[in-house]
Amino acid sequence: MYEQVSHSLLNDILTEIEAEVKDKNLQYFYTRLGANFYAIYSLFHQLYGHRDDFKSQLNQLVKVLTRSYIARSTELRQLDLAREKNHNWFLSQQWVGYAVYCREFSGDLKGLESKLGYLQELGINMLHIMPILDCPKGKSDGGYAVRDFRKINAEIGTVEDLDALATNLKKLDTLLVLDVVVNHTSDEHAWAHQAIAGDKKYQDYYYMFDDRGTPDLYEQYMPEVFPENAPGNFTWNAEMGKWVMTVFNDYQWDLNYQNPAVFTEMVDIILYWANHGADIIRLDAVAFLWKKIGSTCQNEREAHLILQLMKDCCQVTAPGVLFIAEAIVAPIEVIKYFGEDAINAKECEIAYNATLMALLWEAVATKNATLLNRAIRSIPDKLERATWLNYVRCHDDIGLGFDDNDIRLAGYEPTLHRQFLLHYYTDRSANSSAKGIAFGTNVKNGDARIAGSLASLAGLETALEHHDEDAITRSIDTILLLHGVILAFGGIPLIYYGDAIGTLNDQAYLDDDHKKNDNRWIHRPAMDWNKSELRLEKGTTQQRIFSGLRKMIATRKEITAFADHNNRELISLDNPHLFCFVRNNGTGNHPRVLVICNFDHKEQACNIDGLRKLGLLQHAAVKNLFSDDTIDLSDSLLTIPSLGMYWLET
Ligand code: GLC
Repeated sequence: MYEQVSHSLLNDILTEIEAEVKDKNLQYFYTRLGANFYAIYSLFHQLYGHRDDFKSQLNQLVKVLTRSYIARSTELRQLDLAREKNHNWFLSQQWVGYAVYCREFSGDLKGLESKLGYLQELGINMLHIMPILDCPKGKSDGGYAVRDFRKINAEIGTVEDLDALATNLKKLDTLLVLDVVVNHTSDEHAWAHQAIAGDKKYQDYYYMFDDRGTPDLYEQYMPEVFPENAPGNFTWNAEMGKWVMTVFNDYQWDLNYQNPAVFTEMVDIILYWANHGADIIRLDAVAFLWKKIGSTCQNEREAHLILQLMKDCCQVTAPGVLFIAEAIVAPIEVIKYFGEDAINAKECEIAYNATLMALLWEAVATKNATLLNRAIRSIPDKLERATWLNYVRCHDDIGLGFDDNDIRLAGYEPTLHRQFLLHYYTDRSANSSAKGIAFGTNVKNGDARIAGSLASLAGLETALEHHDEDAITRSIDTILLLHGVILAFGGIPLIYYGDAIGTLNDQAYLDDDHKKNDNRWIHRPAMDWNKSELRLEKGTTQQRIFSGLRKMIATRKEITAFADHNNRELISLDNPHLFCFVRNNGTGNHPRVLVICNFDHKEQACNIDGLRKLGLLQHAAVKNLFSDDTIDLSDSLLTIPSLGMYWLET
């Protein structure tokens, strides 16, 4: 849109930086800046228009965008153009992600190069390397307490190592995902040091207060994220004589986005990593970006404005780069991180689907899909050009954040049902084979989350201890079933390192003073490459999981109906143990795929006459796409084996 005020301001800014941009090929940059500038100006004005330094702050932002574009390589600029043409590229069913802690997975970045073959073997083409930036040892929150946003942790490698890896990944058509921890810094970041030294400019980068007056007002409505390890949301800094807002750990200082300089610094950092080859940037803890007294300080409207502004800026300089929102919040809130639009993602193109993840674990515990069937319907439809990141496990805990109303409608009492789930996964005395531990127990309200590796939560550890072959089979089937859902559901599946070989809980963190207070380390083990070799030996648990998963991944890539175009229809069946949906195929030439999962430990049947009335399952027999078994449909009853799953072409 042409709007005089913003455009004459833009002209002033560009005249000022003319010398810098002289003789550079900025044609595409200018068209994108022209197209996005009114949006950038308006958002910046909504957030910071009341400030006297508004113009100079906006000027600084445009300089950052320009300099970052000048620094962007020709190859990446070409990729931007290609992705602009093919803007739905990331909705394809071809993408399959894998998340690693570099140190634990491969030692360092160079080591990671030597593991790319393993990832290729599994069918991975999107690699999320969790935070690798410089953090203080022992106060790192697994990499999420960054001391220097432009330096890689010396034990992991250098920026040059990352550049080399990014180049190799591009050759393998594998996407690189990197984190930018936008909500906070380490208390050892240079900004924090300067704040401690009394520099007002940097004190204004954070939320800090001389006495408890304002912190107490904030605390009235702010929940605690780590109630066990880091109770409260403020930490006293004796050197400065101030209370600092620390929503996560006491050494993670929340950045103050009410200060436009903070916003521009973080855009600069996002673009820095985009220019080092990140295809996708995972924006950490985005729900927390704006703090307001009298609110929970999560999901605030301004947090969304910040993300929209970040997206608009990124589109000017690096339009091929996508954002992932890490917002582990209620479905009604999470959907907003795509940006409230009819079609295009205005904030993040991708968002973690924590609701599906938690519901899957609920279905495993209850052996029943009633809540899954109901609550999944509470996730509003996503935008056309946006997609989910579907996962079963990740480096974090599992929160039981289902909606109370959904729990009631599924026939359970919410508090009791959450207690049941917590006991099921974390209580040794419970009648359950799951072996997890409680994380983040809040004694004030009884809340807790769950930590533990996928395989241990799925009963494999207990089954192996008891040498119980049937139980081993059940846990392997559970692992494959859960992955089968995230591969078929719609969105990008993200597999957590170690899960493809059934990695169990790792107690080693208890011997490490830096880790023992955060029991999420139980599921962040060093990858056992010796055990991983067993994936090649027929009949081992590693082989049974790895080959099952590999086959499903390869099959997913062939099924165009699995591309994510809002083409999923949930189907109600007459059996509460079953979860069923159909993936329609917009292209017309390819068949639809019906997915049926059985969460029970016994085989279950359903009457398929209803499905036939919907035009599904018309043939007398059909192939299960990832196993090549032929399923007999001559009867009205279809039987699904214990913890089994079908992908049926229909
Ligand atoms: C994100 C990370 C988590 C970390 C938190 C605070 O939620 O996934 O591991 O503890 O942010 O940085």
